Amino acid sequence: MFKKRILSGVQPTGDLHLGNYLGAIKNFVALQDEFECLYCVVDLHAMTVWQDPEKLKQNTREVVAAFIASGINPKKNIIFNQSQVVEHTKLAWVFNCVARMGWLNRMTQFKDKAGKDTENVSVGLFSYPTLMAADILIYKATHVPVGEDQKQHLELCRDIAQKFNNDFKKQIFPLPEPLFMKQAARVMSLRDGTSKMSKSDKSNYSRIMLNDDPSEIQLKIKKAKTDSFPVPENLENAKSRPEANNLLTIYAAINDIKIEDVIKKYGGTEFSNFKIQLSESLINAISPIGNEMNKLLKDQKYLDSVISEGVESASKIARPIIDEVYQSIGLLKT
Ligand code: ADP
Ligand code: TRP
Repeated sequence: MFKKRILSGVQPTGDLHLGNYLGAIKNFVALQDEFECLYCVVDLHAMTVWQDPEKLKQNTREVVAAFIASGINPKKNIIFNQSQVVEHTKLAWVFNCVARMGWLNRMTQFKDKAGKDTENVSVGLFSYPTLMAADILIYKATHVPVGEDQKQHLELCRDIAQKFNNDFKKQIFPLPEPLFMKQAARVMSLRDGTSKMSKSDKSNYSRIMLNDDPSEIQLKIKKAKTDSFPVPENLENAKSRPEANNLLTIYAAINDIKIEDVIKKYGGTEFSNFKIQLSESLINAISPIGNEMNKLLKDQKYLDSVISEGVESASKIARPIIDEVYQSIGLLKT
């Protein structure tokens, strides 16, 4: 009943890392040949925590540059920033009135980000998932490629779509499905195999950035935490050793092979050698992206033209959908 349409978003909070690439952006590239795709830089999500105004602008362009440098073709896909398509915020308000406090109270990302300081974080940080649902449903997107950390937000989006459809007795919205990367839905920190690679980690050695140069990549992998045993010889053993498992996962994902095949090739050998091979694979995959990003960032005019074309195309899809929503609710339309 709904046409297959892909939407995903990445926050312009600076410092895109290997987790963002392997968990999300690499997947975006793979989907563009088959489907209509919208890729959105979610600046309104970024501002749920404080952002320096000048840096925010720069970071928004940087994500667009990362999309293009990773292989997303701006002629084939709609690349844009969220705040310029006003229908996202219109629908987010509607969804604030559909979602229940109890649903949002269960969101673990809010709990993680707010920590102990729940009284002092922004209201936006709490209602963040309703805006995310609006990002998706304002295009009636049916599939959402994201890392596994976004699973709960996607479930909430489906709940909102379902409640809206029930409340207004019309099948207006699809129930969107997540699309997780098979190999690397969750890339872990290089310093601690039990916490996810994230830009908020204090240690620079915990993550590889898309614009790290080859010597930085090499050093970070060399310093990556492992235990004192050789490379795992089977999947079971790998699963019980989080840091080792993470490095195997990264190797598999970056080379588009199965983790079992990595084990076949390197199981039982010393980690020092495996790390050299891993650095090489990472340098081959990441360095061209970083170089292209830096080149694109020098051409702000080009990046801004991609964004404004994207905004126009996205708005064309979003406008009739917000009209349909307003009409269903009983809001007057001029
Ligand atoms: P971060 O989580 O670092 O703040 P974003 O929230 O902007 O980054 O996430 C952008 C995309 O990258 C999302 O689809 C998210 O699921 C994915 N992602 C982020 N961190 C990881 C990770 N460590 N492993 C896999 N995917 C990740
Ligand atoms: N919440 C996502 C994250 O933190 C980013 C995001 C916002 C998103 N809106 C979205 C992802 C819509 C997919 C679809 O990573």
